[in-house]
Amino acid sequence: MIAASWIQFMIHDWIDHLEDTQQIEELRAPEEVASQCPLKSFKFYKSKETPTGFYEIKTGYLNRRTPWWDGSAIYGSDVEILKKVRTFKDGKLKLSENGLLEQDENGKIISGDVRNTWAGLLSLQALFVQEHNLVCDALKKEYPELEDEELYRHARLVTSAVIAKVHTIDWTVELLKTDTLLAAMRANWYGLLGKKFKDTFGHVGGAILGGLVGMKKPENHGVPYSLTEEFVSVYRMHQLLPDKLQLRNIDTTCGPNKSLPLTNEIPMGDLIGGKGEESLSRIGFTKQMVSMGHQACGALELWNYPIWMRDLIAQDVDGTDRPGHVDLPALEIYRDRERSVARYMNFVEGCCKFPSLNGKT
Ligand code: HEM
Repeated sequence: MIAASWIQFMIHDWIDHLEDTQQIEELRAPEEVASQCPLKSFKFYKSKETPTGFYEIKTGYLNRRTPWWDGSAIYGSDVEILKKVRTFKDGKLKLSENGLLEQDENGKIISGDVRNTWAGLLSLQALFVQEHNLVCDALKKEYPELEDEELYRHARLVTSAVIAKVHTIDWTVELLKTDTLLAAMRANWYGLLGKKFKDTFGHVGGAILGGLVGMKKPENHGVPYSLTEEFVSVYRMHQLLPDKLQLRNIDTTCGPNKSLPLTNEIPMGDLIGGKGEESLSRIGFTKQMVSMGHQACGALELWNYPIWMRDLIAQDVDGTDRPGHVDLPALEIYRDRERSVARYMNFVEGCCKFPSLNGKT
């Protein structure tokens, strides 16, 4: 479950489509299947379409988060949040004494991104705030002359790089466990010259020889920074989430199968949003992390979508619960259609130029 929380932690660093709050859409279940649907209909905002200014692709969607690996899930994507999470002392970020994220005067969690959260994601955010603060301590010890702003900026750079490295070298390699993937991810990070060479001599050559990390300038081949809608679509990995979180007894030693005894199970509904924050402070950081480490996440396959997500309270950007519920899997299909993600056969045809199978797609 740490892997599942990790990828959500990454998504909250990378993407969140801006919505058009002037355009409300409604999805209704067709009568033949309505009896099997937890929600017969639900309302939501359309994605906000924006002109790109390019000839070939005329419109696109704005990202509410600063895209990619700048650690915005803990630091924030705008000036207001960037300030809100900082203590302005020794470069550090706000953190409660129990190692969890702090709450503001309205009881709202303080973090870079607080939308559609749950106890697992909150724990990882807290973990990397702890890491940031530890880096600040280490830097201050080594360079006592550094002021708050310098300490903050250096610690942010280090922590964001650690996050990017965990994702490339550890998470991706573990989740897609093949030798080819391992080689590809290491080439991506260290280049063909490999880790030993880079650790000894630093970055040498271009992306191919020395890897992407450490290059003086990005190589974007003239394409402005963007993520494709297919990227967003494949990362909707909600099947990774279970129905219940299994809590472990952390005050005892492991049995012969290396698992700590199970104490109780908590339905995911009690671990999301505002309820999730309360549950996490009762469970505590260590127990949450250890328990997640002992539980397998859901398989990314068909017919494995969590039922509780078919009647879900989605949240606003500031973490406030929205009044209406949504059927998330239905909404996900709608989003792909709305954002023109190619259907499977169109995609295959587009990529490989195969003719369609007997003319049908
Ligand atoms: C309890 C945990 C989670 C909750 C409550 C949750 C809820 C949501 C909601 C309400 C949306 C917006 C749907 C829309 O309006 O289009 C969304 C989008 C998304 N979620 Fe989750 N989610 C959770 C966990 C995860 C996990 C584990 C992943 C794994 C990668 C994930 C990946 C995504 C992605 C890629 C999007 C699309 C973002 C966009 O359209 O810009 N979520 N989620």
